Amino acid sequence: MRMKRAKHKSDKLFQRSVGRKLTWLKVLSICVMLAVLVIAFVRAETQPKVVVPPAQYESVEGIEVALIHQEDNCSVEAYYPCTENEQVNASVKAFVDDTIERFKGNTSGKSSRIGGTDELSVSLKVTRFDKDLVSFLFHSYTRYKGQRSLEHSINTMTFDLSSGEQYDIAAIFNKDKSDESLQTLSQLAYNGLKEVYGETEETSNTLKQGTAPTDENFSLFALDKDTLRLYLPQCQIDASQKDTFDIPLETIKSLLSKRLLPAEEPPEPTKPSSQGNKPGGPSNDGKKLVAFTFDDGPHGKYTPRLLDILKAENIHATFFILGCNISNAPEAVTRAAQEGHQVASHTFNHKNLTKLSQEKQKQEIDDTADLIEKLTGSRPTGMRPPYGAKDKTLLSRLDTPLILWSLDTRDWDVRNADTIYKHVMETVKNGDIVLFHDIYETSVAAAERLIPALKKQGYTFVTVDELLAARGEAGPGDVVHSRR
Ligand code: NI
Repeated sequence: MRMKRAKHKSDKLFQRSVGRKLTWLKVLSICVMLAVLVIAFVRAETQPKVVVPPAQYESVEGIEVALIHQEDNCSVEAYYPCTENEQVNASVKAFVDDTIERFKGNTSGKSSRIGGTDELSVSLKVTRFDKDLVSFLFHSYTRYKGQRSLEHSINTMTFDLSSGEQYDIAAIFNKDKSDESLQTLSQLAYNGLKEVYGETEETSNTLKQGTAPTDENFSLFALDKDTLRLYLPQCQIDASQKDTFDIPLETIKSLLSKRLLPAEEPPEPTKPSSQGNKPGGPSNDGKKLVAFTFDDGPHGKYTPRLLDILKAENIHATFFILGCNISNAPEAVTRAAQEGHQVASHTFNHKNLTKLSQEKQKQEIDDTADLIEKLTGSRPTGMRPPYGAKDKTLLSRLDTPLILWSLDTRDWDVRNADTIYKHVMETVKNGDIVLFHDIYETSVAAAERLIPALKKQGYTFVTVDELLAARGEAGPGDVVHSRR
């Protein structure tokens, strides 16, 4: 009996505790569901699924770049080049206007809180620029609000700079060899891409069609100094791993139009002393000067490491520092100035200055100059705008020269000390301003190897100020790429 009662009691207790557990489970699951709903809502409101990458361009000496920036019902940001040839400019502008018009034709025009605004960004790269020839590459990204993916398209334009005529693929070849040339391109592209994709029946058919020797298949191409790069859209090759194919100009040399071959080898920069100096030229001072410049720092670890290297090598460099990064290593800024390096401004927040209001623009520049003065005792004597972006308004308000570069290591992209080392050794010229970023280990490692190697070739390392003092001063608002 006792036992029974006890059992009865424990059953009751058990039931009650199960009942309580169930209620807790209910409450818990409702909470979880609510949380999921709230998170989903907040995400939909504040986070569009994809973001259009900001439009970019890489500055090239001798070509001005203009920016179209509209921010009303939709957002448009497009860079396009301005050359000395009006016909080239008109063709390029027509392409950009057309791209914008098509985008606007597809946009509903209203921005909404959910999904943001429709966006278009057009980036420009000048892949080759000679006396007679210029080759442009455009990346356009479009995103319509509510859409979960970006639309990306590539456009290429190559021009004869003296006549203003646009080259199609046939025009880059010798006239009497145009058939043979297309056949060769087709074979090279087919064989090369087949290796990437392997040989299933399906891919090989698409690839065969996509690389057949027709003008349309090869309508997208860009040239640089040594390469013909073919852009083959996915519909042509039915795969997403690789849609470009590079052909070294050397391998198709016999087919190319004479205009495309470099007229003469530039003077060997590897020979010591006055080899590269033409009499009467700005660099005719019997010296080989080079200015290494480091952007985006200071970095807490790599800037001090770089300063150690520069000190051991007993050379000077230029630092274009970001106001917002100074707190990472303020002592490195002071030390750089004390050890004879030039500390210059790369603005405060690394924003594209041409897109800011006059007031914000001024703040970006002045705040950084104030901080530099505080840490080093003097105001910066040079300014490098983020992305190299500049316009007339900006230039007119500067009280220092605007310093760009003539050799871009692309260190932020390649992140490989060997590649950076090789690229600089192959391309550096007397009077170059070389662009690095001291926020990457690989850049500092590359600089460590480059300094003794270039010293061996007779180079003297100077700051940008020293380069200008030796080869021609620049005034406020003057744009400096190099002093070659
Ligand atoms: Ni930068």
